[in-house]
Amino acid sequence: MPSNARTLKALILGDIVGQPGCRALFVGLPDLARRLDADLVIANGENAADGFGLTPEIAERMLASGVHVITSGNHIWQKKEIFPLLQTSDTLLRPENYPVITGPDAIPGKGHCIVTVRDVAVLVINLEGRVNLSPLRDPIQVGKALLKQFRSRVKAAIVDFHAESVDEKEALGLCLDGDVSAIVGTHTHVQTADERILPHGSAYITDIGMTGPVDSVIGMKKETAVSRSLTQMPLKMEVQNSTAEIQGVLLEIDLSTGLAVKIERIRHLSTV
Ligand SMILES: [Fe+2]
Ligand SMILES: [Fe+2]
Repeated sequence: MPSNARTLKALILGDIVGQPGCRALFVGLPDLARRLDADLVIANGENAADGFGLTPEIAERMLASGVHVITSGNHIWQKKEIFPLLQTSDTLLRPENYPVITGPDAIPGKGHCIVTVRDVAVLVINLEGRVNLSPLRDPIQVGKALLKQFRSRVKAAIVDFHAESVDEKEALGLCLDGDVSAIVGTHTHVQTADERILPHGSAYITDIGMTGPVDSVIGMKKETAVSRSLTQMPLKMEVQNSTAEIQGVLLEIDLSTGLAVKIERIRHLSTV
């Protein structure tokens, strides 16, 4: 069903992993977005550059392929060449809840933006969890503060919650339920089957998966992952070079309420 004047369709894609993920996205996204009639495309780019971080060149190609907003997570800091673009871009985000520091130690970039598609303003928020990750500022409080500041200016709001723990993700979902169109999880690279509309109307899924090589261990070489588990040595992980899937969700948002009508999981096997 095509979106109409009363609804907006947003395609949200999981972490792009390395060259297989980039290839799948660059080749497959234009046609997939057209087929799904997506008005807005959001993709997490934290693993796009060889599995760790993002470069300006890859970010530009993502945007040229039809991505409107790039979100990220804990790996965004691994390629320092992205820092200037993080600082200047309106649509490349890092999680908002990193420490607020002024002066020479200031952290580049921001974790929210307002993007306009089809004359509809949409707030996109990127937050990071604290379980098995860094002890950042409370994502719930930071998310609520952003919504208080910006929610009245937009028709819809989408949160990419980049986190490891299922209970942390579900708890944040419940705290923001009714105030946003959707809370979608990223970071684990494994798509969960718990997509649903929460009691107050926000769509929720614990993890939307990855855009990367599925015959792998979270996008990385299987043999190395097995050796790491067996030996407990921190062996260097490398991206598995095999066929990728584009994974994510398609949201349909009612523009009269800003709440979700539908959330549907997407898995699209790349042909390259
Ligand atoms: Fe990731
Ligand atoms: Fe991550």
